[in-house]
Amino acid sequence: MDKPNHILRPGKRPGTYKKHVTEHIYEPPAASNSEVARVAAKQQNLPLNCFAAVPRGAEELAAAELAALGIQDAKPGKGGVAFVTDRAGLYRANLWLRTASRVLVQLALFPCSSPAELYAGAYAIAWQELITPDMTLAVDCSLRDSALTHSGFVALKTKDAIVDRIRESCGSRPNVDTAAPDVRINVHLHKNICTISLDSSGDSLDRRGYRLERNEAPLRETLAAAVVALTGWDGTIPLADPMCGSGTIPVEAALVAAQIPPGLQRQFGFQHWLDFDSGLWADICAEAEAGIRRLPVGLVTGYDLDNKALLLAGRNCSKAGLEGQIHFFHAALQEFSPEGDTGVVIINPPYGKRLGEEEDLRELYCQIGDVMKKQCRGWTGYVLTGNLELAKYIGLKASRRYVLFNGAIECRLLKYDLY
Ligand SMILES: C[S@@+](CC[C@H](N)C(=O)[O-])C[C@H]1O[C@@H](n2cnc3c(N)ncnc32)[C@H](O)[C@@H]1O
Repeated sequence: MDKPNHILRPGKRPGTYKKHVTEHIYEPPAASNSEVARVAAKQQNLPLNCFAAVPRGAEELAAAELAALGIQDAKPGKGGVAFVTDRAGLYRANLWLRTASRVLVQLALFPCSSPAELYAGAYAIAWQELITPDMTLAVDCSLRDSALTHSGFVALKTKDAIVDRIRESCGSRPNVDTAAPDVRINVHLHKNICTISLDSSGDSLDRRGYRLERNEAPLRETLAAAVVALTGWDGTIPLADPMCGSGTIPVEAALVAAQIPPGLQRQFGFQHWLDFDSGLWADICAEAEAGIRRLPVGLVTGYDLDNKALLLAGRNCSKAGLEGQIHFFHAALQEFSPEGDTGVVIINPPYGKRLGEEEDLRELYCQIGDVMKKQCRGWTGYVLTGNLELAKYIGLKASRRYVLFNGAIECRLLKYDLY
């Protein structure tokens, strides 16, 4: 089958459709051969077209995070950020991004309105250079506003093209493993344009590795990180969460202040790739570990009424590498009265999804307003809620409102200047 000329290669910016450069993935660098080492080093610096998927509302934050990693010109869009980087940048992005849920590396971009176009576009990628028959794979699909409307079908058709291409080249085909594949492939169809990418993250990046058990309504780690970033907290003044539950907000804040990369505890998809550079990865992790610092007592605190949630918070804190550095207290919101002239208080109250619950929660929201106004003078208050009706019961005027999504739930982060 002829290769269509619309395949984008790692190493080429969108719009250039020339030579396939993924051959470098198989290039075995021999330490004794300086020519091979030179070629391998050059390939490492090839630009990769990447897309960081981000919870809606946090795109600008993720672009700022990338800039802080030295990755310039990241382009925030709806639900993600497009950027170009090299292999080291890709590894760093996975290790350090706090607000992104995964980082995809684009392989191909082509018009696609039919199963045949999808198959041809997917088949044209030199999969045999990326996946061997003894590896496992999984294909994820998301689509909207396209002629092909069934994501399961699109994933299946893409998988067929991949395994056919590999079988033709290698004589046998890899198996599918949806739970723990060696290589995760992402197909995205939007307005009949298909993007096929390798998922460099594997498990979603909000799985930091520190959450051992789940409490009833834990905040997603990426969202908690986005909340902390939106407050502008820089670790120089105290941060308190009086309804901390399993401690996601205090833990994410403490990770920032301690300069601990959120991904230090976990594995990533790219570690299974054929071109994985373990030396480069070890250097990047060592560099990150060297920058970790211990937090002063009282900088980050959490409080809750529920002892079970506090137990989880303590465990999560230790597992995140912050043992003894966040102080958790059993206390009702009414008792919350933080020490110090200034600080940031972040509250993520329940928002009552079931009928009847909302009524019970009105009083709690009134209390939140009272406590912030009377017991947190000089601090800056933030409330994250998915229920705008209940938010009215806080009774204070918000100085800023940010829209964030907790999965499908549209939330507001409300800012209160507390004089
Ligand atoms: C939505 S959950 C917070 C989830 C948390 N952000 C997390 O990631 O696990 C709300 C928390 O408020 C606590 N809570 C409810 N009423 C409270 C009160 N009056 N005083 C203190 N905590 C309260 C609950 O125990 C629960 O853990």
